[in-house]
Amino acid sequence: MSARIIDGKGFAEQLRARIADAVPPFCAAAGRAPGLAVVLVGEDPASSVYVRSKHRATVAAGMESFEHRLPADTDQETLIALVDALNADPAVDGILVQLPLPRHLDAQAVLLRIDPDKDVDGFHPVNAGRLATGLDGFVPCTPLGCLMLLEDTLGDLSGMDAVVIGRSNIVGKPMAALLTARSATVTLAHSRTRDLPGHVARADIVIAAVGIPNFVKGEWIRPGATVIDVGINRTDDGLVGDVDFAGAASVAAAITPVPGGVGPMTIACLLRNTLHAAHRRTGLATADLP
Ligand code: GUN
Repeated sequence: MSARIIDGKGFAEQLRARIADAVPPFCAAAGRAPGLAVVLVGEDPASSVYVRSKHRATVAAGMESFEHRLPADTDQETLIALVDALNADPAVDGILVQLPLPRHLDAQAVLLRIDPDKDVDGFHPVNAGRLATGLDGFVPCTPLGCLMLLEDTLGDLSGMDAVVIGRSNIVGKPMAALLTARSATVTLAHSRTRDLPGHVARADIVIAAVGIPNFVKGEWIRPGATVIDVGINRTDDGLVGDVDFAGAASVAAAITPVPGGVGPMTIACLLRNTLHAAHRRTGLATADLP
């Protein structure tokens, strides 16, 4: 193995510490703590674990956590009414509705109802549009965390060739927009892409977000590339990423592990977005925030 292992866990801990340092000055200026509301419908075990981690991290950063756990048979009107109440609540700066929602609910309608200025997930089309056009807005937490790790590893990304594998609204599309804004040359690959190994072989940066265990093979990777693995796949061998880690690590210059790579960055970026939302809503400057 030759690649440097990118320590997402350590980076996320440092980011969370810097966020926690920024909370007391906010509280002094605003007379309250930044507040994050998380809504979970049903008892999906993975979602339940994520929501608990988000709650713990929010409280550990000195922020207020409002957790709303609703039964699996909650109807659309009840959920929309809760989102409306959170939109109107001055103590709530950020709103996150944990996905996936039970199938009888219309997730798109729920996300559209969230006030874009409280949309710390960055999933509202207004924020997707802001990102696409270079305006200030909320950027989805996972791609934002990937960008931070990439810039920490590589510095200026300008002119680099990047391949993003997976075109989801949550990761692939915003990741491509972020890299484009940093002047990388971006290929957004997906299930219909012809000759994916050929695209990956030209890339300085590979971001895998397809949700298929060990999908990206080590022999596809260009020697010296940087590999960011967004996958978290539960298999009989435990948690594995979307990248064949051992194969890729033998040729790449740097690679994120699973677990301990991108995963911890997502929650840290959620706290970061909540801190920014609180400052903006209060009219306080965001320029010096993490
Ligand atoms: N489910 C899996 N990841 C996420 C996320 O980042 N935000 C929300 N709301 N739900 C998710």
